[in-house]
Amino acid sequence: MLFILFIILLLCVRNITSLDILAPGESIRDGETLVSNEGIFEVGFFSPGTSKNRYLGIWYKNVSPFTVVWVANRETSLQNNSGVLKVNEKGVLAILNGSNRTIWSSNISYKEINNPVAQLLDSGNLVVKNGQDREEDNFLWQSFDYPCDTFLPGMKLGRNLVTGQERTLSSWKNEDDPAKGEYSIKIDLRGYPQYFGFKGSIITYRAGSWNGKAFTGYPIHQLPEKYTYEFVFNEKEVYYEYKPRDKSVFYIYKLTPLGFGQRYVWTSETGSRKVIPTGGADPCENYALCGANSICNMDGNVPKCECLKGYAPIFPQQWNMSYWSSGCDPRNKPKCKNGITDGFFRYTNMKLPDTSLSWFSTTMNTEECQKSCLKNCSCTAYASLDIRSGGSGCQHWFGDMIDMRTFSKGGQDLYIRVPALELGHLSVSGNGNKKKIIGITIGAILFTLIMWSFIVILKKLGVARACYRKHYQNILRKEEIDLPTFDFAILAKATGNFSSSNKLGEGGFGPVYKGILINGQELAVKRLSKNSRQGLEEFKNEVLLITKLQHRNLVKLLGCCIRGEEIMLIYEYMPNRSLDYFIFDESKRKLLNWLKRFKIIGGIARGLLYLHQDSRLRIIHRDLKTSNILLDANLDSKISDFGLARTLLGDQTEANTNKVSGTYGYMPPEYAVRGCFSIKSDVFSFGVIVLEIVSGKKIREFSDPEHCHNLLGHAWRLWSEGRQLELLDEVLRERSTPSEVMRCIQVGLLCVQQKPGDRPDMSSVVLMLNGDKLLPKPKVPAFYIETDGIPENDTLLAKCTLFSPEEVSNTILEAR
Ligand SMILES: *[C@@H]1O[C@H](CO)[C@@H](O)[C@H](O)[C@H]1NC(C)=O
Ligand SMILES: *[C@@H]1O[C@H](CO)[C@@H](O)[C@H](O)[C@H]1NC(C)=O
Ligand SMILES: *[C@@H]1O[C@H](CO)[C@@H](O)[C@H](O)[C@H]1NC(C)=O
Ligand SMILES: *[C@@H]1O[C@H](CO)[C@@H](O)[C@H](O)[C@H]1NC(C)=O
Ligand SMILES: *[C@@H]1O[C@H](CO)[C@@H](O)[C@H](O)[C@H]1NC(C)=O
Ligand SMILES: *[C@@H]1O[C@H](CO)[C@@H](O)[C@H](O)[C@H]1NC(C)=O
Repeated sequence: MLFILFIILLLCVRNITSLDILAPGESIRDGETLVSNEGIFEVGFFSPGTSKNRYLGIWYKNVSPFTVVWVANRETSLQNNSGVLKVNEKGVLAILNGSNRTIWSSNISYKEINNPVAQLLDSGNLVVKNGQDREEDNFLWQSFDYPCDTFLPGMKLGRNLVTGQERTLSSWKNEDDPAKGEYSIKIDLRGYPQYFGFKGSIITYRAGSWNGKAFTGYPIHQLPEKYTYEFVFNEKEVYYEYKPRDKSVFYIYKLTPLGFGQRYVWTSETGSRKVIPTGGADPCENYALCGANSICNMDGNVPKCECLKGYAPIFPQQWNMSYWSSGCDPRNKPKCKNGITDGFFRYTNMKLPDTSLSWFSTTMNTEECQKSCLKNCSCTAYASLDIRSGGSGCQHWFGDMIDMRTFSKGGQDLYIRVPALELGHLSVSGNGNKKKIIGITIGAILFTLIMWSFIVILKKLGVARACYRKHYQNILRKEEIDLPTFDFAILAKATGNFSSSNKLGEGGFGPVYKGILINGQELAVKRLSKNSRQGLEEFKNEVLLITKLQHRNLVKLLGCCIRGEEIMLIYEYMPNRSLDYFIFDESKRKLLNWLKRFKIIGGIARGLLYLHQDSRLRIIHRDLKTSNILLDANLDSKISDFGLARTLLGDQTEANTNKVSGTYGYMPPEYAVRGCFSIKSDVFSFGVIVLEIVSGKKIREFSDPEHCHNLLGHAWRLWSEGRQLELLDEVLRERSTPSEVMRCIQVGLLCVQQKPGDRPDMSSVVLMLNGDKLLPKPKVPAFYIETDGIPENDTLLAKCTLFSPEEVSNTILEAR
């Protein structure tokens, strides 16, 4: 009884604000809605995100947060609330703006029209149909034919083979703009139909073909159980759809503006939308990550590529450095005599290769499938089409196989054609065969060498990349994926077994060696000392983050190598070593004229600004000093050792591992005394470096006997007496730009102020160095008097348990 009352009440309420059906002559204005029968969906005008523009959309009525599933005028927004939705006598839906101009309309294929009406169904499908029509799905027009970014239960993603109409998913531009964005999911009908994810026209991933239970790239256990999944492929249409088993559970799939597929779920009880966690990004999902004829598998968090049995890397050295995209090719090309000498190797738990160039038959059984593959010498693999009930149907691949991976569970069987030799059937190989094999091997090596030099030449010409792309169809570029891991043996060889003659120096965290790879590339290999490390996992994550830092004033990390307990970092090699090697050297200092020095100062400032503010990570260097500023072949500056300080010295939130290190002279008072640091500690170190570069004097060695001042005090005294140009390195006195010199000294003094709050941040520093406005006046710097009793060794350890909120919020890395 109560229930019925409730329903009546509900109906009454709805009648006031919303319509059930829209007929010609009626209209829906901004603020009004059309509601589906059971009140699950409504259609009306809305503004996405923070935008003020109005769009006609369909959304779930009773779920939070607000969830739009379809937008009509996604490319043509309304500027204000004057929009109206109408349907005319011809069954055309139209959105009119305030001046009765049609800004969007549905177009319909000609059908018999008879009192058309528009209605929103409880599936979220907005349809136009003949008023008297009682048939279930005889629509003149339906929004399900024009999906936006949301894949709803009952929607058919695919293609109508009769009309050619294609239903694809496409992301929004961003949260505020539903216009078509970069990403899409489409069906590809070549070979056996497959679903691909695209960024523009580039394939980013492949869900692949349907195997009767699931997509080959997404095994059944990865799909929610509360739904049934169906893939239909006949003469009329190809599509994929899913339907709920239980109508009170809602589940949708959205392609987000950033290109991720996101699944959401909620129930009619809770009405609160939850994201289904999909786990971390799985690099093996990147299309063709491993190149041709090679299988991707996840080794912890790291992808690893492995050639198929009987195949070998085309470029073994690249392969050993985890550059996999060139792929593998057959080791002993089978000498095909109707397949007598060949067999098949079975892989289990596989994602099948790209089927766009494969052949299939729905009638063949597995045995016939194998036989017919064996007979055709260009057939390289076979698999069942449908894996239900032991397998039926057949597909063959010819030539290269692309985009395979293994799953820890799920997946399917793939049979690769392999010469019997590779399968271990030694009976086939006699003496004569051995000779042949040697011949073939030498041939293969020669071929590889020739191809390799060919590629090197092509690469020089910039052609190789185009070739690769053509060959492997838009392989996702390696750099975007993760940090290459280097093989220990390769590094040992490159550095002459870490010989002392190759030692470049000893950094804070371990020795650094120069290495040369066989291809001539030079590297700097840092072996981290064992006692300066935290957990391996955390370390890996940290390094992965740091590889994302890209700036021309930061030394580039090329890769890492983890061997048992030991970790090595591989950096680009800097032929001109470090800044201290130049400015404090009697003869080399002359090579750095004022112009160069000014450029170096600017470079350090920009690199530091990037670390502090522009990079997504916000990193405090904590050990900035002249020996950490490296110089490239042009004597341009690059900061090294950034971001590792925290990684290597433990978690700041724990008191017992609470040690921080720095170098005396470059440390500001709050750090040296209390061990507290913020981005302003780096600013202090920067100031010291600037004064060192200008004066050519070492902070730790300079002392002014008359006043007992150190370099900072000396600079301050000269500046306050208006004699700051006297600080300039003698070798520069003749040729310099006095205004720039004075500016640098003043900026340097501002950076070494006692209180962190008095020091400028790096963005102001960059502006101050380049601008010509008046600079603030520095006060007396910190540590200006020569201090006795400072420990002789380079590092000083302190404890810090104090962080001001400002300091904590200044860095994400530190705050964790
Ligand atoms: C919408 O904008 C037009 C002109 O831009 C204006 O004439 C009209 O009054 C506006 N309507 C509303 C409801 O704000
Ligand atoms: C309606 O659209 C037309 C054409 O796009 C435009 O010129 C006009 O200003 C719009 N009117 C309103 C009220 O937005
Ligand atoms: C738009 O059309 C409606 C109905 O046809 C009419 O009442 C209204 O005055 C028109 N508005 C404009 C700006 O032409
Ligand atoms: C609808 O319009 C679009 C573009 O205006 C056109 O490409 C498409 O073929 C039309 N569809 C039908 C069914 O008329
Ligand atoms: C690649 O590494 C493997 C094992 O680490 C080694 O056996 C092989 O010789 C290496 N190949 C090259 C070309 O360095
Ligand atoms: C092998 O298969 C390919 C691709 O289907 C076909 O073009 C070729 O004719 C076949 N060769 C033989 C000998 O059957």
